[in-house]
Amino acid sequence: MAERVAIILAAGVSKRMNTQMAKVLHEVCGRPMLAYVLDACREVGVTKIYVVVGFSAEQVKAQFDDSDITWIRQEKQQGTAHAVLCCEEHLKDFDGDTLVLCGDGPLIQADTLKTLIEKHEAEQSTATLATAVLENPSGYGRIVRDTYGNMQGIVEDGDCTNAQLAIKEVNPSYYLFNNKVLFEALEKVKPDNVKGEYYLTDALSGIIATGHKVVAVTAVQPDTAMGVNSRAELSTASKIMQQRIQQKLMENGVTIVDPDNTWIDARAQIKQDTVIEPFTYIHGDVKIGHGCRVGPFAYLRGGTVLKDDVVLGVFTEVKNSTLADGVRARHHSYIGDAAVGQNVNIGAGSITANFDGKKVSRTNIGNDCYIGSGAILIAPLELKDGSHVSAGTVVSQKSIDELGDKTNT
Ligand code: UD1
Ligand code: MG
Repeated sequence: MAERVAIILAAGVSKRMNTQMAKVLHEVCGRPMLAYVLDACREVGVTKIYVVVGFSAEQVKAQFDDSDITWIRQEKQQGTAHAVLCCEEHLKDFDGDTLVLCGDGPLIQADTLKTLIEKHEAEQSTATLATAVLENPSGYGRIVRDTYGNMQGIVEDGDCTNAQLAIKEVNPSYYLFNNKVLFEALEKVKPDNVKGEYYLTDALSGIIATGHKVVAVTAVQPDTAMGVNSRAELSTASKIMQQRIQQKLMENGVTIVDPDNTWIDARAQIKQDTVIEPFTYIHGDVKIGHGCRVGPFAYLRGGTVLKDDVVLGVFTEVKNSTLADGVRARHHSYIGDAAVGQNVNIGAGSITANFDGKKVSRTNIGNDCYIGSGAILIAPLELKDGSHVSAGTVVSQKSIDELGDKTNT
């Protein structure tokens, strides 16, 4: 079996996104698009990943743990073939197979790549690509086959004849190449097209023309094929990703009462027999234990940890806080930068005042405390186990220190 590396193209300036940010940093369910493509590569065991960056390169690099990534600069974005050619210095002599993927395809799944690799090996082809059949193929490169079904080439949307525009089989940009043949073919690509760019798809046509075996396998599900080129496509991709996230959670024993009206971040972890009520928004690396009930209308933010049997109700927001087993905050609370002990009850409308205009401070609430309705807990604050805060109280560390032993009465 040949050694395999991956090239991910992520240098493009995205005119259609209308953005000043690198396109691949735009988030799908809380993670940059490129993160999903990196995951898929790692899952199929590539030995090295080359990511071609250009526009906002430093911002892109700063976002990733890159021990297995080699960053490649493409100073001027002259097309996908040119982007791959920028890796030449590193890969010219590499005697193996090279996966080429686009950083703007966050819906990619490792299973599709596995099928691509298996087909490439079974057919012993020089290049293999995975294709999709789409009801609406507009925008994508079309796969042109001869009457026997053999692939002849890919024609970009803007270069298609009317007859080619009707082809529904498209190129989602999942390719596996014999590396040396790829780089030979790239040298010959010319920018003879409406955009005046060097197209990777033309390298493939070149490989076919020189008599090498190229195989196209229709292995990509329509909802996996999508490349994100606009804000509208970003929202469609996010919706599809959201369905996948929720599907997986439900398979793992989480009840999501109304999936269409719930949003859960890709980084969130939720354990069995927890119920997520409608209009709940979970954003960031939130961890939720067993048997919790969250929502309706709850908002959980990054750094939130709910242990087991926690109940959060309407309009409760939690940020960067750990809530131990059995905590209840059923109505209109804000819990920020806090550690809340076991079985604490937080009454309606009570909040931690964690920001004094300059700095954020922490609140530690011991086990079995009772916080009455409408309490304001001014951080930094320590409440001992079993503390009782009366409804409507404004509690500061100073007020507790002054009360001394009478705090729990
Ligand atoms: C590309 C394919 C098209 C396919 C579609 C799938 C080509 C010529 N076309 O079109 O057949 O159907 O993807 O989504 O390959 N990039 C660079 N440097 C460049 C140009 C692009 O790194 O100079 C990167 C972009 O950041 C992006 C990826 O390559 O991640 C694809 O570029 P994009 O402009 O989105 O190509 P499409 O028009 O979508
Ligand atoms: Mg694209």
